[in-house]
Amino acid sequence: VTRTAVTGVGGYLPETILTNEDFSRMVDTTDEWIVARTGIRKRHKAADGQVTSDLAVEAAKVALAAAGRDISEIDLIIVATTTPDMTFPSTASIVQHKLGAKGAAFDVQAVCSGFVYALSVADGFVARGLSKAALVIGAEVMSRILDYTDRSTCILFGDGAGAVVLEPVAGQGTPDDRGILSFDLQCDGSKTDLLYVDGGVFEDGHRVGKIRMQGNQVFKHAVQKISEAAEAAIEKAGVHHDSVDWFIPHQANQRILDGVADRLGLDRAKVISTVADHANTSAASIPLAWFEGVKDGRVKAGDLVLIEALGGGLTWAAAAIRL
Ligand code: ACO
Repeated sequence: VTRTAVTGVGGYLPETILTNEDFSRMVDTTDEWIVARTGIRKRHKAADGQVTSDLAVEAAKVALAAAGRDISEIDLIIVATTTPDMTFPSTASIVQHKLGAKGAAFDVQAVCSGFVYALSVADGFVARGLSKAALVIGAEVMSRILDYTDRSTCILFGDGAGAVVLEPVAGQGTPDDRGILSFDLQCDGSKTDLLYVDGGVFEDGHRVGKIRMQGNQVFKHAVQKISEAAEAAIEKAGVHHDSVDWFIPHQANQRILDGVADRLGLDRAKVISTVADHANTSAASIPLAWFEGVKDGRVKAGDLVLIEALGGGLTWAAAAIRL
């Protein structure tokens, strides 16, 4: 059986940091409120002129080095982003050129669930033999679509990029064998009004738009839907909750992370959380958290990792991966 193995993980965060104190000078909020309701303490912000592809390239270089691969070996690049450099070409095309790669390149748009969706597409390429080595990158410059007069959204998001290298690996096909074991991907397109950007190609005035969100409604859906997808991914993988070594969720809000871990019966000590330092980096948050876990030595070869996300769409998704 040929499976898709994750052979390298990387991340990149822009230099500038915005603290909760910085936001308390911009809108009517406090560090106490933000920490209590979200767990967020700070977030990174891209420099003027720094675009999503710039962040993606930096994360990709780190992932390639971790995998011990040269860019010439990569034949597929998928970028998950909701903040593309341009309407077209895809950010992946721009990243391909900046890295000097060849082969296929395209974007996947599923907002905060984008990384899991993109991973599922790349898994199809690698496991079917269409790609020998792929880069899947989640990269966002969320700061460009934030309304810095709306205290209920601007405090929640950060900029960053995370990347993984994927390669085929042969095995017996058991849950103990290395590779991506399962996915569960969902979308409910009737819930657009809960979380969207009020701009786009057909918008009068051709505005890029800003994030609009009914936070408490999104929150309610998040815990339930993420738990369902995670349960489904665990079942499809043929493993038990107890064998999950690391839960690496999309980093939206510490209360969502805790709520999902509790509902799944996972020890909170097994949750990799970067929400305090990165805030919500949308499609970048899972690979960025994964990278942190690898860097500090928690996430190791042989571990069973469960990833999940919910975002605009609404989309939600989960996957189980044996490292
Ligand atoms: N500082 C101070 N007060 C605030 C702030 C702020 N930054 N933001 C909102 N408030 C106020 C509201 O105006 C409201 O005041 P009111 O009662 O006078 O009207 C009060 O706080 C309560 O507002 P709620 O929205 O009910 O607060 P809630 O406890 O739901 O927390 C939050 C808001 C943090 C946005 C929460 O709903 C949340 O995290 N939701 C999930 C949204 C999310 O993460 N979206 C990201 C994309 S999807 C994803 O990644 C899962």
